[in-house]
Amino acid sequence: MCGIVGYTGGASAGPILLEGLKRLEYRGYDSAGIAVQESGVIHASKASGHLQHLCEKTHDGADLPGLCGIGHTRWATHGAPTETNAHPHVSDDGKFAVVHNGIIENYAQLREELTQRGFVFHSETDTEVVVHLLDYYYKGDLKAAVMKTVARLDGSFALGVVCADHPGELIAVKSASPLILGLGVGENFFASDVTALVSHTRNVIYLEDGEFASLTSEGITVFDCAGREVSKSISRVVWDVEAAEKGGYEHFMLKEIMEQPRALKATIEPRVREGEIVLDGVELTRQQLQGIRRVVITACGSAYHAGCVGSYIMEELCRIPVEAEVASELRYRNPLIGEDTLVIVISQSGETADTIAALRECKARGARTLAIVNVVGSTVAKLADDVLYTWAGPEIAVATTKGYTTQVAVLSLLSVYMARELGRIDEDRYRALVNGICSLPERCQRAIDLNTHVQYLAKRYHNNSSLFFIGRNLDYAACLEASLKLKEISYIHSEAYAAGELKHGTIALIDEGRLVISLCCYEALFDKLVSNVKEVKARGAKVLAVAQEGNRRIFAEADDVLFAPHMDPLLIPVTEIVPLQLFAYYVAKENGCDIDKPKNLAKSVTVE
Ligand code: F6R
Repeated sequence: MCGIVGYTGGASAGPILLEGLKRLEYRGYDSAGIAVQESGVIHASKASGHLQHLCEKTHDGADLPGLCGIGHTRWATHGAPTETNAHPHVSDDGKFAVVHNGIIENYAQLREELTQRGFVFHSETDTEVVVHLLDYYYKGDLKAAVMKTVARLDGSFALGVVCADHPGELIAVKSASPLILGLGVGENFFASDVTALVSHTRNVIYLEDGEFASLTSEGITVFDCAGREVSKSISRVVWDVEAAEKGGYEHFMLKEIMEQPRALKATIEPRVREGEIVLDGVELTRQQLQGIRRVVITACGSAYHAGCVGSYIMEELCRIPVEAEVASELRYRNPLIGEDTLVIVISQSGETADTIAALRECKARGARTLAIVNVVGSTVAKLADDVLYTWAGPEIAVATTKGYTTQVAVLSLLSVYMARELGRIDEDRYRALVNGICSLPERCQRAIDLNTHVQYLAKRYHNNSSLFFIGRNLDYAACLEASLKLKEISYIHSEAYAAGELKHGTIALIDEGRLVISLCCYEALFDKLVSNVKEVKARGAKVLAVAQEGNRRIFAEADDVLFAPHMDPLLIPVTEIVPLQLFAYYVAKENGCDIDKPKNLAKSVTVE
């Protein structure tokens, strides 16, 4: 979704802002703009469509002189993706320029009030009220005007502001939308995402909601909402620039699929010491765990699918009820969640609006909350009682891959850890599962090695306009993610179905040549799944099966087979999803799709 950058220092701001916006392109956007301040004047330029249009229009930023400015990529919510609706928005007297991420919920009411006061609105955006409010409240004291403006806003917002009267100064405001400050030498930055900062600095300050900051080339001062100075610690980002670049791959998605063995290793290895699972960041005692009667896992999209996998594993091992529920449902459902519930929240970005809202709702009901998050310092990580980070590194492709598999790995570690603390598994089972988890990076590499065969299958099947993924138990949970991967990047309709449920209606859609991808790695239910394969074959379907290595029986049933490396049944979802990520990737490539930036999608869904 929208991206924000800000720069103040000794270099020309325009090119630096455009470079930052390029690094945020992956988040999804449909227009862009920059504003640079120079000797009491603000120069702004905006363009709809690709960022390249703005680069051409401004000669790569050179047309906007000045050493301090703000930039924005907009993902349209209020108003079409036109140049007028693009940010920055500039006040009529030219004194203020503002960029904004998030949604100002009371903008209609503010717009009416400001119109009555004589302000003229040029765009359809909610953001424009901010620039007029600043104009209205500004009487020479920038900080006071910012505080008065922010006090009037409801909703989620991160703001970047420049004022013509304050050369070299940037204002950054954070309220329920991500914003990170970057400390350089003789220059300072802000951005909605560390990927826009790491080519300049790895020293960052994470703002809390309600805080705002003044940045100049000499330093950064952070204030709370009452205007009191707040002392902040400086964090060091562990990601480097290369991690946020393509490194020779044609697409970020392919690079990130290939990175999974490394990401899994980084996530698992530090948590297994001398054969024992050690969960730094989790302060749940054995006694507290014993008091938990129910586990609820909540998240959105692929993170929810990881939660579905986790619910099967955790319930099987811990023998307590575990449910996964999408966050956008949970938050509005008056759920039965209380002090005896452990709520596990999963999010790659840590900034997904529905996930944050569900987490807040569960906390308010007294639940113990544990977050599985990739982005350090993100809102979800800050809100939860306990945090387990996935150490996947930056994920740039919109379609998650390493984010998902590392989430499943963490859920597996947590489930095995809890099962042992609760006394529900014996030592042999514990050791076998720990060894299995430790083998995931190597098994994942073996799944990646199926690459050439998957490419061949993608060529063969890329013309299907609609297909099904079927499976049972953990295979079914993996189907959910496999189906989403395919549809979001190749735009081919697909559905994930619990195989036994097909005959209750959906089998009506199975006809001659329809592709059914059958996941049958969960061997305890292999025979049951084979019955479902026979049912669809009898109606003319083509079957591509994903089975565990060494399963010879599948040849008699399927038209094509992909073999996933052999694993403990509870750990198969990590390895069986890998060839299906590759399948989605190569099908989308065959069909000429924009793989890293699928239409209508944004990497981080920070609005409801
Ligand atoms: C799909 C995908 C999305 C995200 C979802 C949640 O490939 O990436 O479905 O999983 O938007 O995002 P996070 O994990 O950042 O909360």
